[in-house]
Amino acid sequence: MSVDISTTYLGLKLSSPLVVSACPLSGDLSSLQRLEEAGAGAAVMQSLFEEQIEHEEMEWFHVHENTSDRYAESTSFFPEMEDYNTGPDRYLQHIEQAKRALTIPIIGSLNGTTKGGWIRYAKLIEQAGADALELNIYIVPTETHVTSEQIEQRYLELVAAVRAEISLPLAVKIGPFFTSLPHFAKRIEAAGANGLVLFNRFLDPDINLATLEVTPHLVLSSRDELRLPLRWIGILRNRVKVSLACTSGVHFAEDALKALLAGADVVMMASALLRNGPTHLETVLAEVQNWLVENEYKSVTQLIGSVSREKSANPEAFERSNYMRALASYTSRLDG
Ligand SMILES: Cc1cc2nc3c(=O)[nH]c(=O)nc-3n(C[C@H](O)[C@H](O)[C@H](O)COP(=O)(O)O)c2cc1C
Repeated sequence: MSVDISTTYLGLKLSSPLVVSACPLSGDLSSLQRLEEAGAGAAVMQSLFEEQIEHEEMEWFHVHENTSDRYAESTSFFPEMEDYNTGPDRYLQHIEQAKRALTIPIIGSLNGTTKGGWIRYAKLIEQAGADALELNIYIVPTETHVTSEQIEQRYLELVAAVRAEISLPLAVKIGPFFTSLPHFAKRIEAAGANGLVLFNRFLDPDINLATLEVTPHLVLSSRDELRLPLRWIGILRNRVKVSLACTSGVHFAEDALKALLAGADVVMMASALLRNGPTHLETVLAEVQNWLVENEYKSVTQLIGSVSREKSANPEAFERSNYMRALASYTSRLDG
């Protein structure tokens, strides 16, 4: 029995719900081609960072105007960034090349926190041929006088500013730390987003006991991290009109199926593909297909959202009461 595994994301028809998340694999054309062959429905490029763009502009200014002390300070941040991807011009060229080499939709990614000149790169990414843009907003508030409303306002202004630059579909990738995510999601939608990517993984700092230095370092995700986006996607499904993408902790077919059941239109994968290589996507997709056939689904669309909070026989499992039940079940396991 054949099963239709296509889905719609940001208004784009995708041949499969497995999307390559922004990560180094999407910075490499041959990996992208292998991922397309393995059945990826789309690929999100690595992010181009506000700091990278501003840095390049400052460098230009420095060369031409021969200034300044501020410049020296701000460049100290950059060696790592330059290793991450190769800078704004190469970034745009990479999108053009990816568009020529692949048939799946290519989603550009911009990462920034303040309204500024870097936003014009949204337009340049559109002109380079990207099919959509993902805007990753990653703000870590540290000031005691800044309110949550002010922070949210900053997000919304950024979304609106990027929306005004482009006519491409726009997804916004955010973290989970909002007091009322459903309300904020509605506001992001009203600001012009077509999709939400849930969630950004913050790179939490660590302390090196030998050097007493604070060292943010990147670790690949674990499957347990899926629970957080699973809850919020389940809650948001049918409460917002925008597309929903699940990112964090999708490693195997079971994870992808759960995210789709909760209500994700697509699932994004980075860590598992980095760990196991592009062919892992083929295995996951085959297992998703098998599960659908075994469970008599005709399509992925039929699956999507069928265990969302609204559709679930047990909606409170997405809410607070789940907590008490979980505690109680743990205790009884100890007793038993
Ligand atoms: C090495 C690495 C590089 C990443 N680079 C980016 C990036 O440039 N932009 C972005 O939005 N997310 C980036 N991410 C985050 C992933 O896109 C993804 O959201 C996150 O890793 C959670 O998904 P996972 O559990 O499948 O890894 C990166 C992740 C890894 C592991």
